[in-house]
Amino acid sequence: MPDAEKTGQRVLELDGVRTYYGNIEALKGVSFHIDRQEIIAILGSNGAGKTTCLSSIVGLTPPRSGRVVYEGADIRGRSTDSLVRDGLVMVPEGRRIFPALTVMENLRMGAYLRRDRQGIRDDLDYILSIFPILAARADQDGGTLSGGEQQMLAISRGLMGRPRMLLLDEPSLGLAPIVIRNIFDTIRKINLEQKTTILLVEQNANLALQVAHRAYIMTTGLITLTGTAEELMNDESVKKAYLGG
Ligand SMILES: Nc1ncnc2c1ncn2[C@@H]1O[C@H](COP(=O)(O)OP(=O)(O)O)[C@@H](O)[C@H]1O
Ligand SMILES: [Mg+2]
Repeated sequence: MPDAEKTGQRVLELDGVRTYYGNIEALKGVSFHIDRQEIIAILGSNGAGKTTCLSSIVGLTPPRSGRVVYEGADIRGRSTDSLVRDGLVMVPEGRRIFPALTVMENLRMGAYLRRDRQGIRDDLDYILSIFPILAARADQDGGTLSGGEQQMLAISRGLMGRPRMLLLDEPSLGLAPIVIRNIFDTIRKINLEQKTTILLVEQNANLALQVAHRAYIMTTGLITLTGTAEELMNDESVKKAYLGG
């Protein structure tokens, strides 16, 4: 393992990643990086390859070529469990919670690899403080929650793995604006308070650029533009294509 000085602040780096579904090249050589405690957004329309980026990072769709480097080590071929143990946790699109388990059981599932009982209790307390609605719903089955509450539960279950880096796939999808606001405020809070590095994949560019420090725009399998959130918010082509004017 390279020491902190060698890896610097770089948490994740993709270099020329190509990922295929059969003959379809979904990622055509994707390169980007994320530094410690950044919130980075990957923006793009439906089908651009955002989800494939995340699944290529965690090995669900293994890249055919290119490198995925996390905390200084090439992680291609590593199991999800071993990545979670190293603090790399994905919250998949569509908030896949366990509908027949209670909220509390869902949360405990997020800590399935951990043995530090006190740490688990502390993290549970923290999560219930940032999403108090989950405390009120603790004994309800996950499937009875509203869409927004299920998204909160999915993020919280991810946090129970005590990630150093969290990958979030379209947390705003299908939710009401007021719920989205709550969730995005909390994402920023987690980033500040837990020092969690966050990679946020979003179709909703307006929203994502409000919380992200930097962003990458994806178009059909390629990163086509990058900059600080402020730069992209003021970019004419971004305004036209992604910000509704
Ligand atoms: N399981 C799959 N099988 C075949 N093609 C897929 C599959 N998943 C995604 N694709 C294709 O890969 C491309 C990128 O998809 P995806 O990463 O899901 O985009 P996004 O998350 O940006 O909407 C799209 O053209 C999509 O049709
Ligand atoms: Mg997607």
